[in-house]
Amino acid sequence: MAPSTTQLVGLLPLAALSSATTLYSTYNFNPLEHLGGVAPYFEPQDPPTSPDAPQGCSVSRAAYLNRHAAIYANDFDFETYIEPFISKLENNTGIDWTKVPSLNFLATWTAPLSESEQELLTQVGKLEATQLGVDLSFRYPNLKLPQRIWTSSAERTEKSAKSLVRGLEKEDNTINVVSVYESAESGANSLTPYKACPAYSSSAGSDESAVHQKIFTKPIKARFNAAVPGFNFTTEDVYGMMQLCGYESVIRGRSPFCDLDLFSPDEWLAWEYTEDVRYHYNVGYGNNVAGYVGLPWLNATANLLMSETPGADDLYVSFTHRELPPMVFVAMGLFNNSAFGGSEATVNDTMPLDRINHQRVWKSSHVLPFLSNLAIERMNCTGSYGYEDGEYYRVLVNSAPQSLVECADGPATSCSREAFDEYVQHRGELFRGFSEMCGTQYENTTDTMSIYSDSSLGNGTVVGKRYEAFRL
Ligand SMILES: *[C@@H]1O[C@H](CO)[C@@H](O)[C@H](O)[C@H]1NC(C)=O
Ligand SMILES: *[C@@H]1O[C@H](CO)[C@@H](O)[C@H](O)[C@H]1NC(C)=O
Ligand SMILES: *[C@@H]1O[C@H](CO)[C@@H](O)[C@H](O)[C@H]1NC(C)=O
Ligand SMILES: *[C@@H]1O[C@H](CO)[C@@H](O)[C@H](O)[C@H]1NC(C)=O
Ligand SMILES: *[C@@H]1O[C@H](CO)[C@@H](O)[C@H](O)[C@H]1NC(C)=O
Ligand SMILES: *[C@@H]1O[C@H](CO)[C@@H](O)[C@H](O)[C@H]1NC(C)=O
Ligand SMILES: *[C@@H]1O[C@H](CO)[C@@H](O)[C@H](O)[C@H]1NC(C)=O
Ligand SMILES: *[C@@H]1O[C@H](CO)[C@@H](O)[C@H](O)[C@H]1NC(C)=O
Repeated sequence: MAPSTTQLVGLLPLAALSSATTLYSTYNFNPLEHLGGVAPYFEPQDPPTSPDAPQGCSVSRAAYLNRHAAIYANDFDFETYIEPFISKLENNTGIDWTKVPSLNFLATWTAPLSESEQELLTQVGKLEATQLGVDLSFRYPNLKLPQRIWTSSAERTEKSAKSLVRGLEKEDNTINVVSVYESAESGANSLTPYKACPAYSSSAGSDESAVHQKIFTKPIKARFNAAVPGFNFTTEDVYGMMQLCGYESVIRGRSPFCDLDLFSPDEWLAWEYTEDVRYHYNVGYGNNVAGYVGLPWLNATANLLMSETPGADDLYVSFTHRELPPMVFVAMGLFNNSAFGGSEATVNDTMPLDRINHQRVWKSSHVLPFLSNLAIERMNCTGSYGYEDGEYYRVLVNSAPQSLVECADGPATSCSREAFDEYVQHRGELFRGFSEMCGTQYENTTDTMSIYSDSSLGNGTVVGKRYEAFRL
């Protein structure tokens, strides 16, 4: 006799039940796209607008602000989460991992990094930064190549800049890299102005994100501790294992910690949300200094793009750390959960600590993955039906054109020169006064960024031959 349907279902593995396929749609989930600040570079198409210039338009100038590419691990993540987990693993030699489903890989797994490698760019990081350089040459075949690009002075940002140059330049040693010191007394005049802002704390958001971290790791700890009595998995262990999915992937190209049998899609979404809460309060709309720190780059860059000086460069490229691009987004009003409804007063309510707001637009995986990049383009448009010929501006994040709430009178997501100028003025009024807001106490602070025209920074240095790009 044929078994009944219920008996058949009872024999199916749990995974098959949970990833049920329905007509026209299959559930797909890639944890690498939900890893916040340790997400390998990807272009989430958020929104899915076309990166091509709108009909009739061509880009005549562009400026890029990039986070550095993939690194082995940042020191905080390594010391707080990863190293203690690895050390505990090494100390618990009595556990037979081969007997533990979904964790059995730990029997032979070795740590992908050592303490001395923290903060360094990985091979994948160098490759991806070089690829971005090549992508820029595809995207802007008619723009003059720059003579210089800029970077903050850390090794990982400098190496990212050099790797990009190797992809962008047509002949070796034709583009220089200018290093801008990461000073604690630069005022707004550096690519790391948050380091010169005493009111900014790098630990902002830790308390808030810890609330959700505790909630979502609780069942995972219970599950692991039931499977492996004696190891005593902690919140930090679980968090570190999930971070290792990102870091190990950008070191070795893949990681067993990304396996969906180990952590489910909903658990990855909860990990991501925990990071989103942290960044909301650290560099986002929940931090009152964010817009003030981001504004000087926007203002300086808008001036470069709009300038009518003959012989001006066509392409400006700058490298910084994960903090600055999101602060510029706040200055620009991008990824604001409260835009189109809500108010400034309620923006913290859009990131509740005890549950996930899946409808948020503030997603750190989209905002600051490794190599995350913000572009502002100046375009010439002629024959864009329905629009006057002239100069228009648009903004792209990780190659997706973004709508600006205050600037939307041009083709597709662009706006006219006049509207863009007004928009930048208005944002400047909202966030004028870096030094006062930051509470700077040192001499010679400044509220404006002038690195792009400061001759005392020199012309930088060439980056050497291509093959050196891929040497460790
Ligand atoms: C853009 O338009 C201006 C004014 O019409 C013109 O001078 C300039 O050459 C154009 N630039 C490009 C890149 O097409
Ligand atoms: C592992 O053992 C070493 C040596 O006894 C000790 O210093 C270290 O704290 C232990 N690590 C953990 C995470 O317990
Ligand atoms: C498990 O680890 C936590 C945090 O380190 C510690 O407070 C607790 O005492 C440990 N529990 C056991 C049973 O070892
Ligand atoms: C975010 O959007 C709200 C609602 O439109 C607005 O009141 C607030 O000023 C915006 N925040 C920023 C920094 O642009
Ligand atoms: C959001 O929370 C932060 C941190 O508590 C606070 O400084 C900020 O003023 C809050 N923002 C609003 C608009 O209430
Ligand atoms: C923007 O830049 C211009 C030109 O450097 C400067 O005069 C103005 O004060 C700046 N605005 C703000 C708000 O920083
Ligand atoms: C501030 O600027 C003045 C004038 O350029 C200079 O003499 C002085 O050394 C500077 N102070 C500091 C702390 O750099
Ligand atoms: C930088 O380059 C410009 C133009 O090529 C040149 O005039 C200037 O002397 C150079 N500056 C230095 C410090 O080399």
